[in-house]
Amino acid sequence: MSDAPRWSPEGYVRALHLAARWHHEQKVPGQDLPYLVHVVSVCAELLPAVTAEPVPRPDVAVQGALLHDILEDTALTFDALVTEMGPEVAHVVAALSKNPDLPKAERMPDSLRRILAQPPEAAMIKLADRITNLAPPPAFWSRDKRVAYREEAQLILRALGHASPLLAARLTERIDEYAAYL
Ligand code: NI
Repeated sequence: MSDAPRWSPEGYVRALHLAARWHHEQKVPGQDLPYLVHVVSVCAELLPAVTAEPVPRPDVAVQGALLHDILEDTALTFDALVTEMGPEVAHVVAALSKNPDLPKAERMPDSLRRILAQPPEAAMIKLADRITNLAPPPAFWSRDKRVAYREEAQLILRALGHASPLLAARLTERIDEYAAYL
């Protein structure tokens, strides 16, 4: 019995359908791939940690990963997300969404503060998101932008790394590898 998944496949599929419906024709930036590839990749980074580490609510972690960009990037409202997936997932996703009303420089620190006020699943998703995004940068990114992106990843690691030793180690590796693109 201990081999049973710690998260519900039905909940995974429900979140995946919702993400597919709302991200719809959105593409991975700079690539001709459906945006769904990004959210499933983030979930793939998260699953080993959800399996190996004591995560209080694995379903919130998995479903939150699949839906982490849905409020920031689509027209789905917070209230509709509560109705579809429940308040725990919706609050985690809201914390992961940057506030567009703030000046750009304040958006990440503000989101990190709101993530820290949530259960640890929110921090784990943010770590998995940045691990996924520290891929080879698009050719049009300036050196300054690449340096800033790597520094922001270090900020995320310092602020949230405590939530998951496994994801923190993986993000550390990715930050080191990203030095090759500077
Ligand atoms: Ni993302």
